[in-house]
Amino acid sequence: MNPIIKNEITKRLLFANGQPISGQQLADDFSISRTAIWKHIKELEDEGYGIETIKKKGYVLTSSPDSLQPAKIEQHLKTERFGHNIHYHVVCASTQPIAHQLAQGEAPDGTVVLCEEQTAGKGRLARAWTSTQGKGIWMSVVIRPEIPPTKAPQFTLLAAVAVARAIEEVADVRAEIKWPNDLLINGKKCTGILTELQADVDRVHAIILGIGVNVNQQQSDFPEEIQSIATSIQMITGQPVDRAKLVAHILNHLEVYSDMYVKHGFAPLKILWESYSCTLGKRIKAIMIHQQIVGTALGITDEGVLQIKTDDGEIHGVYSADIEIQK
Ligand code: BTN
Repeated sequence: MNPIIKNEITKRLLFANGQPISGQQLADDFSISRTAIWKHIKELEDEGYGIETIKKKGYVLTSSPDSLQPAKIEQHLKTERFGHNIHYHVVCASTQPIAHQLAQGEAPDGTVVLCEEQTAGKGRLARAWTSTQGKGIWMSVVIRPEIPPTKAPQFTLLAAVAVARAIEEVADVRAEIKWPNDLLINGKKCTGILTELQADVDRVHAIILGIGVNVNQQQSDFPEEIQSIATSIQMITGQPVDRAKLVAHILNHLEVYSDMYVKHGFAPLKILWESYSCTLGKRIKAIMIHQQIVGTALGITDEGVLQIKTDDGEIHGVYSADIEIQK
């Protein structure tokens, strides 16, 4: 079956808000036979969509599965570019290399790679990222801003704000940002962001923004070694979250913030970032490869560099580190 036509049929059923859609109309619109339409409908039913056939009227969507199929995301999108080119996989090793490959080609700004499960999800510093089937958001977004490579790390901060706002809107929970790339709820990690780059010395070709959100996991879905530090939105609210809606809200904010950044720089986003930060004003330990700094997190610069004041009064700028918040 043609996946593009299937996605369009799914979209028509989703957008009809419970009204019947005529099989003949669909057949005419996509220039295929009614039997071909019926086969698509059967396929959708096999994937978990509830579809009733009403005589002489057509097909009515009665329920849809919790999946990240493009049609389900497009239903909630308000963007001009982001999320209009979605590469959906049921399972893949990691969405990052797929997005890298697309970015080396002609993939437009805002191209998205999404999957239900990653078998080799990766985090910062080559750590593993657990990506349980059907429980989270595992996505990579290709962004093509006209900026020098030195500015790219700020996209991690910008993305963290986009995800925090989306979580607030969709699940009514406030996540806090732990500099630079973690979102915490009640002190436990629910989101990680991995920013990778394709660039030459003075120009970014593409930022590959990897976003992993723990959405509907139970504690037992996490490996034992991270159970005490990881959480999901559902573990906090007790309610399952519509993952497709959350993806769309993330993309809605991401497009606005990405455009805002290119036009006005980091300053307006810094204000937003600070309002979600759980790092600022705290005593922290910044752990880097060859050095550790303990002190008070004063703020971030307009370049997104974390400023730490040590007990001797000196101020240190930290570009990248693991942060421990001290009790
Ligand atoms: C971190 O906190 O270390 C970053 C985690 C990033 C995980 C996401 S999930 C989608 C994308 N694909 C990956 O393999 N990793 C990122």
